[in-house]
Amino acid sequence: MERPRSALPPGVLSMHVLPADHHDRDWDSIIVPRQVKERLLAQALLVLQHGRKLSMLSGLPHGLIVLAGPPGTGKTTMARGLAQVAALALARQGATCLLEINPHAFPSDMLGESQRNVTRLLTETVPEIAARRPFTVVLIDEVESFAVRRSTASFEANPVDVHRATDAVLLGIDEIAKNLPSVLFVTTTNFIEAVDEAFLSRADLVMRFALPDRETTAAILGSSISEVAVQWPALLPLTRDAARLSELAALCEGWDGRRLRKLILAALAQRLDVARDPAKLSWDDLFSAARKKGGVEWAGGAAPTSRELFPDVPKELMHDHDHGHGPHEHGHGAHKHTHTHPKDDEPHSHS
Ligand SMILES: Nc1ncnc2c1ncn2[C@@H]1O[C@H](COP(=O)(O)OP(=O)(O)O)[C@@H](O)[C@H]1O
Ligand SMILES: [Mg+2]
Repeated sequence: MERPRSALPPGVLSMHVLPADHHDRDWDSIIVPRQVKERLLAQALLVLQHGRKLSMLSGLPHGLIVLAGPPGTGKTTMARGLAQVAALALARQGATCLLEINPHAFPSDMLGESQRNVTRLLTETVPEIAARRPFTVVLIDEVESFAVRRSTASFEANPVDVHRATDAVLLGIDEIAKNLPSVLFVTTTNFIEAVDEAFLSRADLVMRFALPDRETTAAILGSSISEVAVQWPALLPLTRDAARLSELAALCEGWDGRRLRKLILAALAQRLDVARDPAKLSWDDLFSAARKKGGVEWAGGAAPTSRELFPDVPKELMHDHDHGHGPHEHGHGAHKHTHTHPKDDEPHSHS
């Protein structure tokens, strides 16, 4: 049994034991040249499976993979998928633990605190978890805030503290490479220029992700439509029209994978009719959304009022004007509103 989320060690976002059924999708959903996936998997297996022997080499692997490239190009998804596929390959030799680190948990206002936290993570938490299963993959997303480039570190945070925290990361990675050679770090960054040079030089593989080309764009669009067609099979013919798909792809030059997948959502929301019955999605909707650049639009002209749009909602379906705060309401069949105010999920202001 894994610990419940609330009891995860500090700085750890999640912990999964792999392979697991519901983790297959990530790897399959990212469309990249075949060699990219093969190279990543080979690198991961080399370290996980043979790390102990390789750690005898003078040029020992650090068990560190860096996925770098623009936002929305599939790095995080690929990192998770890689952990699952490596775990599948190794399943007969034992389970793999995937540990996701929250790099934003480390910078701190308190002098010396970031360094202490990083050191605790790499010298206590990771080794303790690595001892439980034969294989461990540590995913550090947005690693530029974890291994901050010391030569350019200049922001409000105490630069001495940033230095020491990055030093602690390097020290920790070196120790793990020596003592726990079958731990693999998979890290991602949107901003490789901000990652410390000494950290990058420890990477066994830096894989650069690029924006998808025309052909890949068409494939991503096709795959996104297919996913919608699983729910609304009437849309299957759309997925078979390669000529239209490639025409659509031409309108999406320079888009990243995330934006391409969102195009389908924007297309489904071009017309009310389609939003209410996605089976009615047409090529026109897709082209129209692409011409408007997906979900980014300008509002103009007068829109109909809510009652003009929906004049015929029966009175029984209208809820009380009541937000459910008082103890008195006995609403006749009407649902109450409940307002929740999550306090601990406030977004950080890193940008
Ligand atoms: N090459 C790609 N092929 C298919 N889907 C992609 C690709 N790149 C990105 N996506 C989709 O975009 C979304 C964001 O991907 P993510 O892994 O978070 O990107 P990143 O970490 O690079 O910002 C995911 O839903 C993913 O499926
Ligand atoms: Mg990401």
